[in-house]
Amino acid sequence: GINGRFYNSGPSTASESKTQDNKVRQGTGIALVIANIAKLNVKIYDTNPKQIEKGLDLINNLIEKEVSKQRITREHAESTKSRIGTISIIEELDDTNFIIEAVSENINLKCKIFENLDNILKKDTILATNTSSISITKIAAATKRPEKVIGMHFMNPVPVMKLVEIIPGLATSEETLNITKNLTAKMGKTYTQSQDVPGFIANRLLIPYINEAIIALEQGIGTKEDIDTTMKLGTNVPMGPLALADFIGLDTCLAIMKVLHNEIGDTKYRPAVLLQKYVDAGWKGKKCGRGFYQY
Ligand code: CAA
Repeated sequence: GINGRFYNSGPSTASESKTQDNKVRQGTGIALVIANIAKLNVKIYDTNPKQIEKGLDLINNLIEKEVSKQRITREHAESTKSRIGTISIIEELDDTNFIIEAVSENINLKCKIFENLDNILKKDTILATNTSSISITKIAAATKRPEKVIGMHFMNPVPVMKLVEIIPGLATSEETLNITKNLTAKMGKTYTQSQDVPGFIANRLLIPYINEAIIALEQGIGTKEDIDTTMKLGTNVPMGPLALADFIGLDTCLAIMKVLHNEIGDTKYRPAVLLQKYVDAGWKGKKCGRGFYQY
């Protein structure tokens, strides 16, 4: 079967979740923002029912935190909760208007899911994919509705980060693009639009920067603390590049770097040897308890 996770909304929105680790799942954050900020109904789907339960627990905790910090009222919290539903079989997505898929970054998996959804969904449903580096055009080509397929790249952690990159594929219609922009704005996010190229805008710039920081560490230009503090305080960002690499996941950074290297072909995108080594060692960052730092 499909090893995927979907968050789907009844009358109007939908999504799915991504990372394999059991910490931050992007789909959970997306569902929360849809219900809490956009005030739309949302349904969550995952092939693993345990993940749905975990997601709901996390959502409840985050909502209760908002109440305890007096940022939302009890009434608002209860209506947010009431807008979030779950489904147990993918066929229950048949009447949804908008799907956001957020499974792991595996092109074959994504294409298989989109092909399957294309057969299940009513014909005007929009299918968005939350990908950080896979071609939207390729995913769209797995369906018979490429004009209704679009990329929505959320940043981690989704409830906190203000940006969504929107990526139309080669065949995406203007209407699909506008509906997606409106939904993103309703979610309280700022969107930017990127061409469907490897890494889009965010990762085309961010991941080579992280890779360069790893090369700087490898070459002994500075200690990991000095590299991170230089960039954190020197450019006013919340985390230095090595801490950020741990936060994103070193396996994810490596995978994106490989996409840039393979698809653009320029040697300037060659992954740092040390990055590959850490991933080979299983030191994949925060989610594993060890990356450049220990957690
Ligand atoms: N879900 C929901 N809320 C979360 C969260 C999560 N996973 N993680 C942190 N938060 C919330 C906290 O609860 C806290 O909220 P309150 O103010 O209500 O208490 C707030 O975020 C700040 O968190 P902390 O006080 O614990 O810690 P912090 O101030 O150090 O912030 C951080 C943590 C938000 C992660 C901050 O360090 C940060 O912004 N880091 C950079 C993140 C970044 O660059 N993300 C993009 C990564 S790249 C990407 O996602 C794209 C890709 O394809 C690779």
